[in-house]
Amino acid sequence: MGAEMKRYKKMDFPVGDIRRFLEPGPVVLVSSAYKGERNIMTMGWHTVMEFVPSLVGCVISSGNHSYELVSRSKECVINVPTADLARIVARIGNCSGRETDKFKKFKLTDAPAEHVGAPLIAECYASLECKLADGLMVGKYNFFIFEVVKAHVPRVPKYPKTIHYRGGGQFMVSGRALDLRRLFRPEML
Ligand SMILES: Cc1cc2nc3c(=O)[nH]c(=O)nc-3n(C[C@H](O)[C@H](O)[C@H](O)COP(=O)(O)O)c2cc1C
Repeated sequence: MGAEMKRYKKMDFPVGDIRRFLEPGPVVLVSSAYKGERNIMTMGWHTVMEFVPSLVGCVISSGNHSYELVSRSKECVINVPTADLARIVARIGNCSGRETDKFKKFKLTDAPAEHVGAPLIAECYASLECKLADGLMVGKYNFFIFEVVKAHVPRVPKYPKTIHYRGGGQFMVSGRALDLRRLFRPEML
């Protein structure tokens, strides 16, 4: 097995650009609301941290208007867009809600959430209602740990084409599925 595996000749690379190799996905749209104001931002820096309770950690830069709404309301909705929304996703991540209502600007539909004040985005195929579970690392790293308290997902498709950010304006669209279930211990599935 090892004999046929390719080995890579490597070179030095700027550590500030390693996102190209590690950036997780999918890119999501974070909707937030506070005192009658609502907003959307694009987010690539998120990670699942625990199954039960369902914890998701993410970086929301303090320079973003969303930071104000999320840190004050302690809530948000993480919406997962499909590849057909890629251009809108890029544009949402390149303008601020301080000057504009992005729902109106990008003709997106807000739908009421059940447990949080932030709206769901109807055009996204999955929407996760989140409440702040731990804000201990917000001050130092802008890192919010949310508990997903409600998930809205469609029946089909199970694995739609999502978009994944590589930095430098480059995106990857999710592709071929690989079912390796048989290699997993049951408790790892
Ligand atoms: C593909 C992409 C991914 C991004 N990921 C993040 C992220 O994980 N965290 C973050 O703070 N900003 C991220 N941004 C930048 C924000 O989306 C951007 O600053 C946005 O304008 C903030 O909007 P707001 O000021 O209305 O909150 C990303 C932008 C793009 C285009």
